[in-house]
Amino acid sequence: MKLNSVEFVTSVAHVDQLTNKTISEIAFAGRSNVGKSSLINCLLNRKKMAKISSTPGKTRLLNYFIINEKFYFVDLPGYGFARVPPSERLKWRQLIEGYVTTSKMLKVMLILTDLRHPLSKLDVEMITWVSHMDLPHLVIGTKADKLSRNQLHSQLAKNKRQLKEIGSSAELMPFSSVTKIGRKELWQKMSEFVR
Ligand code: GTP
Ligand code: MG
Repeated sequence: MKLNSVEFVTSVAHVDQLTNKTISEIAFAGRSNVGKSSLINCLLNRKKMAKISSTPGKTRLLNYFIINEKFYFVDLPGYGFARVPPSERLKWRQLIEGYVTTSKMLKVMLILTDLRHPLSKLDVEMITWVSHMDLPHLVIGTKADKLSRNQLHSQLAKNKRQLKEIGSSAELMPFSSVTKIGRKELWQKMSEFVR
């Protein structure tokens, strides 16, 4: 993918603020600290683009970026803050669920999980839910650089097995925003959805 332009567009706190869009969207989900901002910055060849989403007050929002004036990246709020009260979690859930059920332009959801670990309960919930919604999705194993070659292979195999066990047919792709492992492959895959 040749990047001609990348711009931050808007942050949205409520589904009813979603404008009527005619532009395709790719959404990014994953627990906090999984490497979501880093992955977005790596894909966009920008150092601080996705930092916007981690400035105070914006972490619980949907952040829209427009790429080549052609499609959106939608950075979803990170899930699984241990210390977040249930009422906050409910708000998060409602925002994401509202977004996914409302947006007619969402083409694919990227669900990020830390490749060093098995899929968490929340990852599994998310994957199961988007599968039920018939939403195309890819599972991205982040921080692949932190694993040796052997560890990478065995962890990929383990997590693929786990996906199978939960009845998911999602693809699992390794990624590192440090070494850029998987960047090219991911762009290739995403391009198929926003043609
Ligand atoms: P929140 O916005 O807080 O929810 O986190 P996030 O999911 O956006 O994660 P972020 O990209 O901010 O990365 C969290 C930490 O992991 C940072 O210290 C990053 O430097 C580190 N990190 C992210 N991706 C990678 C990676 O591919 N490799 C390594 N080694 N570290 C990474
Ligand atoms: Mg972030």
